[in-house]
Amino acid sequence: MRRVLLLICLASCALGAMWRDGAANEVNAIVCAPTLHGAGSSVNAGDLNIFHPVSPPAFEIRNLAWLVIGIAAAIFVVVEGVLVWSIVRFRKRAEVLGEPVQVFGSNPVELAWTVIPCIIVFVLALATVRTIRDVELQAPPAGALEVDVIGHQWWWEYRMARGEGDESMLVTANELVVPVGRPIWLNLRSADVIHSWWVPRLAGKTDVIPNHVNHTWFQSNTTGVFLGQCAEYCGTQHANMLLRVRVVSDDEFNAWRAAQALPALAHASTAAGRALFLDLACMNCHAIDGVSSGSFGPSLTHLMSRETIGAGAAPLNAQTLRAWIDDPQALKQGCNMPSLKLDADQLDDVVAYLVTLQ
Ligand code: CUA
Repeated sequence: MRRVLLLICLASCALGAMWRDGAANEVNAIVCAPTLHGAGSSVNAGDLNIFHPVSPPAFEIRNLAWLVIGIAAAIFVVVEGVLVWSIVRFRKRAEVLGEPVQVFGSNPVELAWTVIPCIIVFVLALATVRTIRDVELQAPPAGALEVDVIGHQWWWEYRMARGEGDESMLVTANELVVPVGRPIWLNLRSADVIHSWWVPRLAGKTDVIPNHVNHTWFQSNTTGVFLGQCAEYCGTQHANMLLRVRVVSDDEFNAWRAAQALPALAHASTAAGRALFLDLACMNCHAIDGVSSGSFGPSLTHLMSRETIGAGAAPLNAQTLRAWIDDPQALKQGCNMPSLKLDADQLDDVVAYLVTLQ
């Protein structure tokens, strides 16, 4: 009986841990819930569930997961069934005295419990190898759009060609916008430590390693916003290194790419903010096309085309932008952007400038 209780305890602990992980994911998904561009999509963007795939590698992983769960569940039922049966069948009865009959060694039984697990492990290994082969392509699929992904503490940089047949790259951050129905081939690099690119509904985790290029790919036939997070502990703000992939129609993608390829807007009315941006330390870390070329932090050329700030730490709007510049540590403690201790007028000017960078 004690063993049964222990089993129930262990099972409830495991279930509790799974539920808690799920709850943590929910929280992150709410923090950076889809806002503007995800509206009207039939896809639930807060969904980080590997059992709701939309892309071939994610489908493969889902199928393998079900196979493993199925086999594990069958083993669980058989083993626990025999255990419970033995406990009930052979429980101590009043009329039984002394030790039960002792039985040692049985060739058929020993063979069975050696051979059957070997066969199970072999089947799982074959299925896993086949999945890895299908998921990890050696070269980009035909017609793929290539995107360079660079992991930074704690944000994502994306680079892709400005247009078909155009070699020059446009640089953006944290939100990857891609066309629907086309394979996307990612070249993953890191600027500092090891990160991991993981958008559960699109593809499996792929490590992002310094001085090494890894590849992964996905292809969504559904438009919508797909969220993910860095899946390799990379320091203080690992949990706020969120991923956001917007899969849009071809037309929308071409319009987005054309807009991203334009230089930054420079209204005369925002000259004060621009001057401050150049006078202060901002320009050392942030690029604004035609204004500055810093590369330590995210490019701000088309800052306001994004939905979140701080790699998903908060929704992006004038208020959160102002709060962020005032003290980034309040929104994302430990991030590498310092507070420059601007006064209220300076904050107003800088924000007034940045919000025009559409
Ligand atoms: Cu980057 Cu964890």
